[in-house]
Amino acid sequence: MKSFRSDFPIFSVHPELVFLDSASSAQKPAKVIDAMAEYQRTSYANIHRGAYELSERSELLYRESKVAMARWIGASSHYDIVYSNNATGAFNLLVNSMARSGWLKSGDRVLLSIVEHHANIVPWMMLKETHGIEVEFVAVNAHFELDREDFIAKLTPNTKVISFTGCSNVTGVGIDFETVNFLLNTNWKSDWGRLPYRVMDASQLVAHAPLDVTKLELDFAIFTGHKVWADTGIGVLYGKRELLKSLVPSIWWGGAINFVHTDAFEVAGLPFRFEPGTPNLTGAISLLSAFQYFESIGGYTTIMEMEQELVWFALTEFAKRSPKIRLIWPDVAVTSLGKPRAWVFSFVVADKHPNDIADGLADKQICVRAGHHCTEPFHRSLGIHGTVRMSFSLYTTKSDVKRFFEVLDTLI
Ligand code: ALA
Repeated sequence: MKSFRSDFPIFSVHPELVFLDSASSAQKPAKVIDAMAEYQRTSYANIHRGAYELSERSELLYRESKVAMARWIGASSHYDIVYSNNATGAFNLLVNSMARSGWLKSGDRVLLSIVEHHANIVPWMMLKETHGIEVEFVAVNAHFELDREDFIAKLTPNTKVISFTGCSNVTGVGIDFETVNFLLNTNWKSDWGRLPYRVMDASQLVAHAPLDVTKLELDFAIFTGHKVWADTGIGVLYGKRELLKSLVPSIWWGGAINFVHTDAFEVAGLPFRFEPGTPNLTGAISLLSAFQYFESIGGYTTIMEMEQELVWFALTEFAKRSPKIRLIWPDVAVTSLGKPRAWVFSFVVADKHPNDIADGLADKQICVRAGHHCTEPFHRSLGIHGTVRMSFSLYTTKSDVKRFFEVLDTLI
């Protein structure tokens, strides 16, 4: 089966490494590492400020990076792409800008799903405290998909925002926005004048399955660079152009300004008004080269092929160990191949603490994550404090998965 392990230098340095924590942060291919070094060596200069050639070249690369991101997620233009520092930073920017723009006021409702990552919970909770908004959680069904009845019941006329994950970092299953759109079109009743703003946390989705923000009619979408083989410190906020135009940034200064006089200032145009100060230029290059790498290996077609072999191999192995292992996984019958899903397996072992399992695996150079994975409300809803989570990426091999089960068997 396909694996791109040899493209990732970390495995030459650590040949025994079994890296199964890619949902947390993915390893970087040589192409990305080299592109960042090459940029620093040959083309680095600040952007928007210099009339000299090096600055102009740097600016072109920054723009090329945004053009690539727009293509990756089906946005119509690079003007719709804002860079932030990560998904959490992008959520904070969006949520606080919405409040500053008067889009969210006391009594307005934000709907989240119970499987959301804290990055898509805490910023809204902060607005609950400071602005008196309502934050309501929609349940998921037995397959970890949207509980339609609960959604309809909680879709009150004061609902202003629906912010759901495209792929949970615990279950791998996302909330289907086609279903959300259908339910909105058939059930939405409000004199507010428009449908609620639809926001997707695409942090886990983009590494695993296609996203088309235009087709899904998303108003905003967010993902982070380091989970898609790019560097840390850079995240993407997509916004529909007409919305970004009327959204007042929650942070202003430096490069986000057209002019500053002693008695007035004017904020810059799109998308730079949301990017105050010197941006993460090398991070932008890392995103560009990550996208080029992703395309060079065959994009989602290759990823889907790998999924069929690797994910289903792991699933079969887990099934052999049931009921000793409880896998937080939907009913296989409804989880057809090719449906968007992240390559994650969260599980609990009877009578064992998740940390002990992760420690035992770590002793044999097998990297997984244990805990609530920044999804405490979801874990509580399952009645468990934490899980062990194994997650795959392009460099994962069948022998990694076999090794994982060998060691897991000794621990259980
Ligand atoms: N959000 C990352 C994870 O799920 C850190 O592990």
